Amino acid sequence: MVRYYAKISGTGRGIPEKILNNFDLEKMVETSDEWIKTRTGMSERRVAADDKACSDYATIAAEHALQSAGLAARDLDMIIVGTVTADYAFPSTACIVQRNLGVKNIPAFDVSAGCPGWIYTSNIAKQYIENGINRHIMVIGADMLTKITNYKDRNTCILFGDAAGATIISRASDIDISRIIDADISADGSNWDLLVQPGGGSRMPASYKSVRERQHTVYMEGNKVFKLAVKSMFSSCEKVLKRNNLDTNSIDWVIPHQANMRIIEALGKKLKLDISKIIVNIEKYGNTSAATIPVALDESMRSGKIRHGDIVLMTSFGAGMTSGSLLVRI
Ligand SMILES: CC(C)(COP(=O)(O)OP(=O)(O)OC[C@H]1O[C@@H](n2cnc3c(N)ncnc32)[C@H](O)[C@@H]1OP(=O)(O)O)[C@@H](O)C(=O)NCCC(=O)NCCS
Repeated sequence: MVRYYAKISGTGRGIPEKILNNFDLEKMVETSDEWIKTRTGMSERRVAADDKACSDYATIAAEHALQSAGLAARDLDMIIVGTVTADYAFPSTACIVQRNLGVKNIPAFDVSAGCPGWIYTSNIAKQYIENGINRHIMVIGADMLTKITNYKDRNTCILFGDAAGATIISRASDIDISRIIDADISADGSNWDLLVQPGGGSRMPASYKSVRERQHTVYMEGNKVFKLAVKSMFSSCEKVLKRNNLDTNSIDWVIPHQANMRIIEALGKKLKLDISKIIVNIEKYGNTSAATIPVALDESMRSGKIRHGDIVLMTSFGAGMTSGSLLVRI
């Protein structure tokens, strides 16, 4: 069987305009700019407009990615969206993005994998490219966590922002040096209850009580999640590096999930990484869930920081508890 290689051929992002900064949060809950900055590294985050949903920003990101790849929407063979804040319980956000892009008769579906949603979807796309079935797949990580945030809970409301990031994963040509070198995805369902939106699903359908008790917002045991995040991202990175006989000296850039600056620093330390190789934009956006990595990748490629041929390791962790990494030569 012929095996093809997959590569990232285009990137884009859709970022809401409205900014919520630490001083705004000081007016909403008992917190301070200083606490938020020192405990998380965040200064501000973006908030989706009231009349906009996940698919709106995902579509902007998708169009941006198509432009950068020099492709038209009709060239796409599949659309996958990693999200936990879909427009609706059904249909999938990917189907709405498909309608917005004006394409028909290709598969479109969402993947619920928490913050590593984009890593999971990229891994799926990689398989369809490598087995020769598809040539171009739109892979989006998009979340609107502010829509499910409890702005009375200071433990969580300071953390989250909204954004969408898109990448196109395409078949690499024979002479291309760009390729997805490896990918790893995993989950540990035994800790699913550490990070959950309890209400709104079949376990707890919406009721007056569930709304009154704010069960339709994020519940998180921050401390436990913090420790598992460091451990899981480290073991995923280690697995991928070992499998490819690489160490962190051979990596040009690491893009970790942007959940907390202290998580990023602890991961960097365990990986014995030079901090200058770690890409961070957490101060501007906070934790945008599945969007953190594709947004940071798009920003870094467009600014010229990440260049053609660079080796980039991306890693994430989130609700499930899920984790995963993607090793790419750009
Ligand atoms: C949420 C998080 C920032 C909290 O930071 P922390 O250092 O673990 O803080 P703790 O939860 O231990 O709380 C320390 C104290 O600060 C307080 N505190 C919590 N949030 C606060 C806030 N926004 N402002 C001021 N004080 C706050 C707590 O009430 C606690 O007070 P106490 O000691 O009097 O009980 C951190 O645990 C975290 O980032 N967790 C992982 C988040 C994550 O990755 N989530 C998504 C995964 S994709």
